[in-house]
Amino acid sequence: MKNINAIILAAGKGARMRSDKPKVLQVLSGKTLLEYVIDSAHKLCAKMYVVYGFGGEKVQQTIKSDWINWVEQAEQLGTGHAVMQALGQIEDGVICLILYGDVPLITQKSLQKLIAEAQKNSAALLTIDLENPTGYGRIVRQNGQIKGIVEEQDASDEQRAICEVNTGIMAFDSSLLRRYLKALDNDTAQGEFYLTDIIAIAVADGKEVASVVAEDEMEVAGVNDKEQLAGLERALQKKQAKQFMQDGLTLKDPSRFDCRGNFSFGKDCICDINVLIEGEVSLGNNTLIAPNCILKNAKIGNNVVILANTIIDGATIDSGATIGPFARIRPETDIGANAKIGNFVEVKKSVIGANSKISHLSYVGDTVMGKGVNIGAGVITCNYDGANKHQTNIEDGAFVGSGSQLIAPVVVGKNATIGAGSTISKNAPAEQLTLSRSKQTSLKNWNKPSKK
Ligand code: UD1
Ligand code: CA
Repeated sequence: MKNINAIILAAGKGARMRSDKPKVLQVLSGKTLLEYVIDSAHKLCAKMYVVYGFGGEKVQQTIKSDWINWVEQAEQLGTGHAVMQALGQIEDGVICLILYGDVPLITQKSLQKLIAEAQKNSAALLTIDLENPTGYGRIVRQNGQIKGIVEEQDASDEQRAICEVNTGIMAFDSSLLRRYLKALDNDTAQGEFYLTDIIAIAVADGKEVASVVAEDEMEVAGVNDKEQLAGLERALQKKQAKQFMQDGLTLKDPSRFDCRGNFSFGKDCICDINVLIEGEVSLGNNTLIAPNCILKNAKIGNNVVILANTIIDGATIDSGATIGPFARIRPETDIGANAKIGNFVEVKKSVIGANSKISHLSYVGDTVMGKGVNIGAGVITCNYDGANKHQTNIEDGAFVGSGSQLIAPVVVGKNATIGAGSTISKNAPAEQLTLSRSKQTSLKNWNKPSKK
């Protein structure tokens, strides 16, 4: 068995994207195109070479990884030229698994089959039959044997009618690859050195090129423009949603559900329409996500109800809690069991104890709140003095009257009551009523202003 070295071609600008970003950094379902390719090849190969060119620093900054060998292709002279740059560092007698950075959904299974063929034959090509082969290189066969690949721009009308296309992915013995690449020329429609031309060169050299047929169109779809990117995003979302439903998730409408990350859930969870999942999200059992919610990096327990239009980012929500509608739960927040966060409430970097309630129109930030606390409507923790953030502590059983401001750092003691409309800048003792209000006065002889 020969060693496997992966070569990922990622140097192209991707002019058809009309973007300042290199094409391989375009994002599909929350992950760059290139990361998909790296992730599926990584377990199969001993070494990995990524050929970068256009926007190279951006590519290396985005894909941080010490085990990738970066190879520069200063000028993008074609896919054949790109492979040549990497080959300089690759030993003889290994299998080069050549992957395209803009073909993201390639599966390990197909790659394994391809590698197995190349171990036997020295050269193997991954192909697929497409109803609409437009844009792809066509596979030219004679008596069933592969004779070569012809690019769309270079193809005759007859060749354009061929539906078997080149996915771009191949496995090739490195010594042969080195020999055939030297024979390439750039006398092509695009004036580039096409990697695909080595197939005809190999055949002329008496070598048989094996082929493996990819399982579905999605895994070999190349992403060259925004329309293809959107098309693949939809197809991927559809596939994920189908899997989630098979695993028992109720989706009110699978076409209005998006997951851009890793999502796990227990039994009897429901996602209503327009739910977006990002990063790592988990739900316990019997949890409901109402319409238009965004859940990002969230750990949500059992029997939780997330009401409509709520955003949760970087938080833990314990079992039995109710959040929203229109709530925003920000990073480093832990909402305790059976707590209630109501409408237009923002909570940031805070721990909210079990059974506590913040029901309406509040901002709670940098706060440690005990159990069974009741926060009235419109209460605000003033956590920022213009330079630094300060903490608020609200102990078990406290009651903070509506419209109060708690100026941090400040402690509201156990079972303390804060009278409505108070501005609290000193610690409020446990068990007592604390309030700060200017005396209410009424003027009898007062003239209502009138319009001049
Ligand atoms: C290529 C294939 C075509 C195949 C299709 C499958 C060639 C000549 N054509 O066409 O047969 O059907 O992919 O998706 O190979 N790249 C470099 N350096 C370069 C040029 C390209 O690294 O000088 C990289 C690009 O970043 C991209 C990949 O190679 O990731 C493919 O290049 P692209 O221009 O998209 O080739 P296609 O026209 O799609
Ligand atoms: Ca392409």
